Amino acid sequence: MKRFEEYKDAVNKALLPALHSAGPMPEKLEESMAYSLSAGGKRLRPVLLLASCEAAGGDPEEAMAFACALEMIHTYSLIHDDLPALDNDELRRGKPTNHMVFGEAGAILAGDGLLNTAAEVMARAASGMNDLRGTKAMACIMRHAGVSGMIGGQSLDVASENQEPDEELLTYIHLHKTADLLEAAVEAGLILAGAEPELVEAGRQFACHYGLAFQMTDDLLDVDGDAALMGKNTGMDAEQHKMTWVALKGVEKTREDAEREIRLACEALDRLPWELSIHRELAGSLLDRKY
Ligand code: IPE
Ligand code: IPE
Ligand code: MG
Ligand code: MG
Ligand code: MG
Repeated sequence: MKRFEEYKDAVNKALLPALHSAGPMPEKLEESMAYSLSAGGKRLRPVLLLASCEAAGGDPEEAMAFACALEMIHTYSLIHDDLPALDNDELRRGKPTNHMVFGEAGAILAGDGLLNTAAEVMARAASGMNDLRGTKAMACIMRHAGVSGMIGGQSLDVASENQEPDEELLTYIHLHKTADLLEAAVEAGLILAGAEPELVEAGRQFACHYGLAFQMTDDLLDVDGDAALMGKNTGMDAEQHKMTWVALKGVEKTREDAEREIRLACEALDRLPWELSIHRELAGSLLDRKY
């Protein structure tokens, strides 16, 4: 069983070649996409995809194209999330945000480019497979990234600035802006391994609870985290009048709710027949995370 760091190293090696596989492109566009893609980042989603696939008996090399595509989609979501029209952030992954370096038009196009390249990379990988696993994994990732998924969550996140926190609305926002791409990771990994639909569903439930707890701890870190460790500025949610779990419930109750979601995530893992130690460790260390 590989460790988190081994998968992460493999992803870091594969990401730029996957980007360049889209063919020749204007130099500035390439530079701005590569800037955000190589700025660092925990690589949680691609590692979860590869680890889910391999634990369920699949081939992590075959899954790598999908892992890289998912990290491209996540990176595009961060570039656009940081734009002045959205969260207006100046620091990401320990570096100036994409629009601070390449301008707003450059950042918008880098995001567009990463999203399109992700689709190209997956479609190419899927068309080289002699069954439908790749097509199904791609459909799964694009749906979770789409308007009923991540983009839908982001849309209501932005629309809810300056509003009184509301638990139902905020749960929708967290489920979609954050949990969806984590669900995509686990589900796509299991689909590529050829897992049975009910096991893919249990994997999704793990990622859904993990994703809710992940965004709760992201909201906590914005209040009491160390910006130098996180590589992004703190206090931005209050400054932008964001609807966050901390604004809804306060720090103590947010920690309690995150604990409950972590417990539910681990219970979902208990329903799966494989050794998923990376998933368990990620869930178990969430409340202590510093970045
Ligand atoms: C940040 O995601 C965006 C949220 C969903 C809160 P990560 O915390 O995984 O960011 P990176 O990829 O490590 O930069
Ligand atoms: C961002 O949530 C989620 C996505 C980019 C899809 P946040 O706005 O809370 O993430 P950070 O705090 O900027 O990383
Ligand atoms: Mg945001
Ligand atoms: Mg943000
Ligand atoms: Mg945040």
